[in-house]
Amino acid sequence: MAYRDVYASWKSDPEGFWMAQAEKIDWDRPPSKAFFDQGPVGEWFADGLTNTCWNAVDRHVAAGRGDQPAIIHDSPITDSRSSVTFRELRDRVASLAGALRAKGVEKGDRVIVYMPMIPEAVEAMLACTRLGAIHSVVFGGFAAHELAVRIQDAQPKAIITASCGMEPNRIVKYKPLLDSAIEQSSHKPDFCVIFQRAQEAATLTPGRDVAWDEFQSGVEPAECVPVEGNHPVYVLYTSGTTGQPKGVIRHTGGHLVTLNWTMKNIYGIEAGDVFWAASDVGWVVGHSYICYAPLIAGATTIVFEGKPVGTPDAGTFWRVIQDHKVKSFFTAPTAIRAVKREDPKGELIGDYDLSSLQAVFLAGERADPDTIQWLEDKLNLPVLDHWWQTETGWAIAANPFGIERMPVKKGSPSVAMPGYDVQILDEAGHPVGPGTLGAIAVRLPLPPGTLPSLWNAEDRFRKAYLDHFPGYYETGDAGYVDEDGYLYIMARTDDVINVAGHRLSTGAIEEVLAGHPDVAECAVIGVADSLKGQMPVGFLCLKKGVENSDEQIVREVIARVRDQIGPVAAFKLACVVERLPKTRSGKILRATMVKIAEGEQFNPPATIDDPEVLSEISDALQGIGYPQR
Ligand code: COA
Ligand code: AMP
Repeated sequence: MAYRDVYASWKSDPEGFWMAQAEKIDWDRPPSKAFFDQGPVGEWFADGLTNTCWNAVDRHVAAGRGDQPAIIHDSPITDSRSSVTFRELRDRVASLAGALRAKGVEKGDRVIVYMPMIPEAVEAMLACTRLGAIHSVVFGGFAAHELAVRIQDAQPKAIITASCGMEPNRIVKYKPLLDSAIEQSSHKPDFCVIFQRAQEAATLTPGRDVAWDEFQSGVEPAECVPVEGNHPVYVLYTSGTTGQPKGVIRHTGGHLVTLNWTMKNIYGIEAGDVFWAASDVGWVVGHSYICYAPLIAGATTIVFEGKPVGTPDAGTFWRVIQDHKVKSFFTAPTAIRAVKREDPKGELIGDYDLSSLQAVFLAGERADPDTIQWLEDKLNLPVLDHWWQTETGWAIAANPFGIERMPVKKGSPSVAMPGYDVQILDEAGHPVGPGTLGAIAVRLPLPPGTLPSLWNAEDRFRKAYLDHFPGYYETGDAGYVDEDGYLYIMARTDDVINVAGHRLSTGAIEEVLAGHPDVAECAVIGVADSLKGQMPVGFLCLKKGVENSDEQIVREVIARVRDQIGPVAAFKLACVVERLPKTRSGKILRATMVKIAEGEQFNPPATIDDPEVLSEISDALQGIGYPQR
């Protein structure tokens, strides 16, 4: 079948389409129907009973895949490699789940997972789902405060962590971050499980911490607990417009059915193949494509602890693909830009046998045509952009490689996937025609596997996604569609920026800057960056009579962001200004500031209060090297 036939078959009978896909999942009780008109946007497979861990692990052992590697760990940072078969994975996860259960973790309890890129991170996620406990994975590059905010909101019974993460230039000790986060949160977990790594031994807090191995000793392994199709499998926090992140909920049934569908139809992967997503378990890409989707499909997944460059060089990606016979590879454009910068001629590619590789998939930020072209030329393989978000959990638009390889139009993530009726809307919410820029929205209901609401925040869910365009889910991205139905994603419509494929909130950074005692007012913008896509830049207006020097205050706010949000914010540039450009009604003109920083031509908005401020902003930006030449 061609893509257009598949899309049409979904459109003409969504129930039939998704029920047919649901048959590929093992259910303790099959759902009586696909869509349930309940909750703010509907729910999928709500009356079915199933278990995620069973579908990702146990069923493959039962089907004779017990000896196949389920997880390959490749860590150039620690110079180690190992693998875990499906049978070993089942036993390890059953044991961990048994130990969690013995300490009181049950269906519906939340468990925070704060782990580096080691197989135990995936095992911890699976052990939670085995019990029907709801995990919330927190990215290791976030600081203690961000962890605390998530502990406060998710109210976990347990936190599972490791003694350390490994960055190329340093060991990231997790225990002090954990202790500080628990201290900052009024909610306290009952216990913490610490996986001790060889590189760093953490001192356990008596009465609270248990060691990964010891607490499993002598416990009864846990069987899979069947849960309802609309039982949350996880909550994943993502950046919104404020410092309070949004807890995206994922329901069990739709998650299983759609991820399984994507492996074959988007990524061209079958049971027994090797799939690699070079991301981190802390992001949605890691949830869907390091942990769940490959395993649900019976494929081998790779947990990679390294960077595209510097571990040890820009040939690492190609070495991993060769060594583990990777068939489909998924990464962020920023990672390819980093490789291209180090090895512009792609000479290192020639050192490796990439004959196993069929395609490269890019997502997480806009894939610029130059990067796609470079990789296509060097690999002589399809390089396929696809577009999605934490909220959707799987691609809204993609080039469905496993169905049909559609012509690539560089700059476009291609076409809408079944389940998504994507529309471009004008400000009044009316669909616009091809070629016209507008807000990108998806007509409700969203397909299975996407978010049904936000954790503890249904009102915020409605306000953030549903109220602006009744009948639609608002993606927060702006763009257009062409005559052939190809989507083009051009910009965010909110305060979210994308730094090295990481989603950050300028509002959250502003909250940290505003917390500095000398700062009266501030603004943060995302400025185009040739490596990271965007970089955050801060503007500070100081209180009258401040004694500290501008340089010192800038240094302090940079340290604050690193300390409160984390190194991943990559906040390194700020300048002091007298005033911020505003409209007469007091709205800060961030978009105009971005244009100045990027050296673009622009006309000052008619609503500007005082156009003189713009030249002050321009001078301040020049002082920190913008626009870049
Ligand atoms: N734990 C602790 N710190 C972390 C971390 C983690 N898990 N991940 C990143 N950091 C730190 C880095 O050490 C760095 O700290 P520094 O300021 O002391 O150097 C900082 O956060 C910024 O990291 P990063 O964004 O990774 O920048 P970089 O300059 O080290 O590397 C790239 C640049 C492009 C190579 C890198 O950003 C990259 O690999 N990006 C791909 C991202 C990706 O796959 N995203 C997934 C979304 S699909
Ligand atoms: P996240 O929730 O972290 O996955 O970030 C989602 C956001 O990243 C989207 O809303 C887009 O703004 C951006 N994004 C992700 N993939 C793409 C892509 N292929 N093209 C353009 N933007 C993308």
